[in-house]
Amino acid sequence: MLNKKVEKAINEQIKKEEFSSRLYLSMAIWCEVNGFPGAASFLYRQSDEERMHQLKFVHYTNDRGGSAALMSLEKPEAEFNSLLEVFQKVMKHEQFITESINELYGITLEEKDYTTGNFLQWYINEQIEEESTMSTILDKISLVGNDKSGMFHIDKELEAMTAAAPAP
Ligand code: FEO
Repeated sequence: MLNKKVEKAINEQIKKEEFSSRLYLSMAIWCEVNGFPGAASFLYRQSDEERMHQLKFVHYTNDRGGSAALMSLEKPEAEFNSLLEVFQKVMKHEQFITESINELYGITLEEKDYTTGNFLQWYINEQIEEESTMSTILDKISLVGNDKSGMFHIDKELEAMTAAAPAP
């Protein structure tokens, strides 16, 4: 039986992963209607990944004799001033998620739930990867500034990155 404190913390994390999926969906929509089709593809895919992160927690909770529960979600931001702002916010959000996963890991240690701690290793590694990907993209966008052809190339690159990545 899953420890109740751990179960509650996982359910909070399920909400955060679900919100991440909606946030990236909202950002993908903004990119698509504002002339960044590559960034849109990238973020639609990122949104699917977050849904997968959520589902992985749902199945784990239910499989361990707990019960996954959904919560209400706040409306994600839908207006951005630039592609730079979008990715700055993605980065900030991923840092928030990393912190949240680390806190969850801390709870599993306090509760001596080493099985869940072990399960969380996957998320810990995933966060390292996501932060590193976002930081690379952010550096590139910052470098081109307002240069239109530079932006065009970055958008193409995001399209290629999305096509090359394995399905979530
Ligand atoms: Fe589920 Fe991007 O963290």
